[in-house]
Amino acid sequence: MRRATGQAARRGRGRADPLPAVRLGGATGGVRPAGSGAGGGFTPVTLPGTPSAAPGIDADRLSTLLNAERMRWIEARPRSAALRERARRSQLHGTPLHWIGQFPPPVPLTVERAAGARLYDVDGHEYADFGLAATAALWGHDHPAVVAALRDQLDRGAVTLWSHEDHVAVTEELGRRFGLPFWQFTVSATDANRFALLLARAVTGRRRILVFNRAYHGSLEQTAAVLTSDGTVPAPGVEPNGVDVRESAKVVEFNDLDALERALVPGDVAAVLAEPVMTNGGAVIRPEPGFHAALRELTRRTGTLLVIDETQTIPAGPGGCTRELGLEPDLITMGKWVAGGVPAGLYGMSDEVAAAAARYTEAGDGGLGSTVAGGPLAVRAMRAVLTEVMTDETYAHMNRLAERYERDVAAVIDRHRLPWHVGRLGGRVSYAFTPVPPRNAGELYPRVGSSLRDALWLYLANRGVVLNAMSGAALMSPMTDEADVELHGALFAEAIAALAVPGGA
Ligand SMILES: Cc1ncc(COP(=O)(O)O)c(C=O)c1O
Repeated sequence: MRRATGQAARRGRGRADPLPAVRLGGATGGVRPAGSGAGGGFTPVTLPGTPSAAPGIDADRLSTLLNAERMRWIEARPRSAALRERARRSQLHGTPLHWIGQFPPPVPLTVERAAGARLYDVDGHEYADFGLAATAALWGHDHPAVVAALRDQLDRGAVTLWSHEDHVAVTEELGRRFGLPFWQFTVSATDANRFALLLARAVTGRRRILVFNRAYHGSLEQTAAVLTSDGTVPAPGVEPNGVDVRESAKVVEFNDLDALERALVPGDVAAVLAEPVMTNGGAVIRPEPGFHAALRELTRRTGTLLVIDETQTIPAGPGGCTRELGLEPDLITMGKWVAGGVPAGLYGMSDEVAAAAARYTEAGDGGLGSTVAGGPLAVRAMRAVLTEVMTDETYAHMNRLAERYERDVAAVIDRHRLPWHVGRLGGRVSYAFTPVPPRNAGELYPRVGSSLRDALWLYLANRGVVLNAMSGAALMSPMTDEADVELHGALFAEAIAALAVPGGA
């Protein structure tokens, strides 16, 4: 395994990097084509004060720093900018996935290669990667066990649509770790949720699905519903003419047992789909004591199935939160990290669900599956992940680094008396601009601090540290170096010292 090189640190911090003269005016916020195609002008942002700033942060300083960091990013990335301009002619928003266009950097980070827990861009910059593809690269970009497994399998065939010994080894190991006996393979976590919900409907004969407010379970319209004063509506940005979530979903706040009971008692909900600890609001939102026991009791009492989505919560431990919290779901879903970066997902089910599902799928395809699901390449990688990577030692390393990262952030929050908090779930750490951890994701909206998040992301990335570009969360991998955690701590302290309101909030 690669050890610390400290290279990102030296490289990021050692540069003189004077602020370039940037042509201003033009596009609103983004890069627009420049004559050479390699640079770009932008309009500096002027912050209205709040809510894009955050409590404890000086809005003027933030605005100045954000503009400077955006200029610095653009000027140091002419090849990335040129590729972006080329991509505009063949890709929506000039990005391969439209989300990338919404991330903080005005020109996307354009990767030349990824190795260990590092990214290298086409302009010659090196980054310590704490984003790790939002857990899809949780074990590192080239974990030796995964790479060896993939190389070997490439000589044995990438897809066959038949059974392999690796499938059996994987499903046996999943049963041991997560406590559910029967498993099926999918291409992604989104698909795992799609099929788990379809089975829940088939098994219960009910239509509605209950999700917690602002949860994200993939690009699955039926779960993209939020709670408003008008009741359940499609999540912002989701086309309302698709699935009618008012008819098909119920949404309640996490940790609100009264609302949950009111929603389940009519007996029309097929399944509750839940992250065991919510991670999607850019914070770690923990279940209150007794919440999971009550959720299980209520779902059993009302004949509702419980589906636990472990896609983001696996940093909690080698059996996810399911094992850490002693949960007893009817179905489990997961994806991203399961095959070390090869697209793949899984869902597991209890004996009872499997018996009903077997009857349901006897007659035809049941609307489940994909030709490339459980392809041997992905499954070989899964076997390596489960048997060689997800060890107690791996988790001890991830936890140790995450504790350090959390301490560094907490110290800065204390030093500047900021009304923020930092949360950790095993190897995952994130901070949010509320004084105490929220009870539910609803408490985080409307979100404050979006400009601060952008500025921090850019400040760190301009100096060699990359966080999750959507939420600012950090993940530790078995290939993450302590020196990189240290570098993050130093840079975060520097950035906040430059931005905090003098004397504290
Ligand atoms: C909790 C959770 N479930 C499912 C998914 C869907 O994963 P994918 O987009 O890889 O299908 C996500 C994606 O972020 C997620 O956060």
